[in-house]
Amino acid sequence: MIDLQNLYKTFTIGEAKPINAVQNISLSIDKNDFVVIVGANGSGKSTLLNLISGNVLPSSGKIFIASKDVSRLPEYKRSPAIARVFQNPFSGTAADLSIIDNFRLAALRTQNKTLKIGVNQNFKNKIAQQIAQLGMGLEDKLEQAMGSLSGGQRQALTLLMAVMDDLKILLLDEPTAALDPRSADKVMQLAQQLTQQYQLCTILITHNLKDAFTYGNRIIQMAEGKISKDLDATSKTKLTQNEIFSWFS
Ligand SMILES: Nc1ncnc2c1ncn2[C@@H]1O[C@H](COP(=O)(O)OP(=O)(O)O)[C@@H](O)[C@H]1O
Ligand SMILES: [Mg+2]
Repeated sequence: MIDLQNLYKTFTIGEAKPINAVQNISLSIDKNDFVVIVGANGSGKSTLLNLISGNVLPSSGKIFIASKDVSRLPEYKRSPAIARVFQNPFSGTAADLSIIDNFRLAALRTQNKTLKIGVNQNFKNKIAQQIAQLGMGLEDKLEQAMGSLSGGQRQALTLLMAVMDDLKILLLDEPTAALDPRSADKVMQLAQQLTQQYQLCTILITHNLKDAFTYGNRIIQMAEGKISKDLDATSKTKLTQNEIFSWFS
């Protein structure tokens, strides 16, 4: 689904020494992979996701998505197949708008073909059904402003909005870092459930040791812009919490 070939990203700002954020990464990620990426701050994890989403263009190297060369395509030309969820629960949704209006916006943005957009009851019912799956009781509060919800509730809704369309790739950059432990668990379980249900290719960046251990069928560690470890499903199953812990220290 995602093929990276000899990818480099160097940031040069003014007279400062250039930063090699991503250095010669080659990586192939399968359609149904759930990849967890760990690594110290500044090791290039977010830059790697930015390169995949088109938020940042590579200095050199190639990016293929579903066998198509998208290396030079800007974000908006890749976005129909890719959704991102960031650390800040408030960045994914509009606080002043109601839950249902946020879903309308999301449907417009992704030009969802299966859902008829508008004020019609059909759209509302479909969204309510989806939201009911979260088990947070939010399906009865569709007219409530997004800003009145907790961080965990907003992040759960952001995830749900992200997967509504013909989405294929879900990029999660520390999606639970700003949440309390219980909400974080709920959001992670939802991410896993949606990945399976919609057969997504998911990449999760996390600093949470337990999440790195629990989720995903592949784990990659980055250091100084390079991949320092890459364990497939078989190796990840054998990995103990203590071993992952030693990676983090
Ligand atoms: N837009 C940018 N402009 C300049 N430098 C950047 C930019 N984005 C990232 N960097 C630098 O690239 C390096 C890798 O950053 P990043 O990918 O955010 O790491 P991580 O997500 O692993 O913490 C860091 O040194 C960071 O300061
Ligand atoms: Mg980062």
